[in-house]
Amino acid sequence: MTLTARSVSPLDLTDPASLVDNDPYAYWERMRAEAPVAWHESPHGIGFWSVARHADVVACYKDSAGLSSARGTVLDVLLRGGDSAGGRMLAVMDRPRHRALRRVLQQAFSPRLIRRVERQVTTRADNLVAAVVGTGPVDFAAEVAEALPINTICDLLELPASDRPDLLAWNKRALSSDADDADPMDPLEARNEILDYFVETARERRRRPGEDVISMLANVRVEDEPLSDDDIALNCYSLILGGDESTRMSTIGALDALGRHEDQWNRLTAGSAAVGTAVEEVLRWVTPAMHFARTATRELLVGGQRIRAGDIVSMWNISANNDPAVFDEPRSFDVGRVHNPHVSLGHGPHFCLGAFLGRLELTAVLNSIIRRVSTIEVLAAPPRVYSTFLFGYTELRLVLR
Ligand code: HEM
Repeated sequence: MTLTARSVSPLDLTDPASLVDNDPYAYWERMRAEAPVAWHESPHGIGFWSVARHADVVACYKDSAGLSSARGTVLDVLLRGGDSAGGRMLAVMDRPRHRALRRVLQQAFSPRLIRRVERQVTTRADNLVAAVVGTGPVDFAAEVAEALPINTICDLLELPASDRPDLLAWNKRALSSDADDADPMDPLEARNEILDYFVETARERRRRPGEDVISMLANVRVEDEPLSDDDIALNCYSLILGGDESTRMSTIGALDALGRHEDQWNRLTAGSAAVGTAVEEVLRWVTPAMHFARTATRELLVGGQRIRAGDIVSMWNISANNDPAVFDEPRSFDVGRVHNPHVSLGHGPHFCLGAFLGRLELTAVLNSIIRRVSTIEVLAAPPRVYSTFLFGYTELRLVLR
């Protein structure tokens, strides 16, 4: 039997207010038990499936032939008619073009190129942390977490420092909103600003190529053709889109979790749990991308449920990452968790391209606070990002001693 969201729980997965105002973990616990693959009606007139169990979420990520990314991968976008970048931007593209472009972009994340930014990432993280230790109350989100990811991507793209504040502001608007009274057109305008900026930059780098990612994209052939300026812009945007907010949410979530779990903080500082396992636990605990979504290309079965061709299927990472069938005591934050196959970075052909970089940034922040900080005092419950896609906090007021 197919249950509607209404009959299981009052959570509306299409409404940010519903997701922000309610505890999602109880909802997903019930969904995993009673309606692991459930049909939801949406106010947009199109329904969609939610997938709650870890095994089913992983199976969906793997099945890129049966479940397409090309119409979009975020529920809100799919319910509003699909992603205009479909088929042109790596994240919203299917094989064979996805494989060809991914091979190109993977070079940009090769050890040689990442090593070039590694030292910058470590130094920047340490300087940012050093500036807020022992200074009294600070907003960790604004003072530390905001500056690191966007600057790291900008380093990779070799963008000048003077352009970066604009990019950060546009990106915040394009993905989510800090408040529920935001102008609904704002995200689109912000997205266009970013794309225009990258079209200009792509043209410039065609004229004067360097060793950066944009120059590489400007001079490469994918399926025997050069990429257009627009496609280069979209794929640069893809790196910003993928790399900024998700890493920011993880970093803020890390400090919040460590501040509120003194025992775990003590394990880390005493060296009885490794920074590497703590990074993975932070990714699981926060789950910055609550879901990703696909469109079925043909009739298929997910967790025994028949899905029709054309149906939208959303995989809820936040649920999979708390599935007790896979994780021991999932609602306990355990920096030493050994078995931790979380799906925070996705799985399968679209597995996060920037996974290494994201982990590097989180590691750099954790190493710096372990070295410099003895206590983390979180001063207030942080406000949640207003989104059906992102999980995290817009502000984190704390004292680092
Ligand atoms: C893909 C999460 C950091 C760039 C993904 C996916 C997830 C994810 C879940 C899979 C999407 C899907 O299957 O549809 C995260 C998290 C991060 C992070 C939680 C922070 C810790 C980064 C960074 C970058 C990046 C730093 C780049 C600078 C991308 C790109 C894709 C992607 C380009 C698309 C890959 C493809 O479709 O082949 N990310 N990401 N991400 N991520 Fe990340």
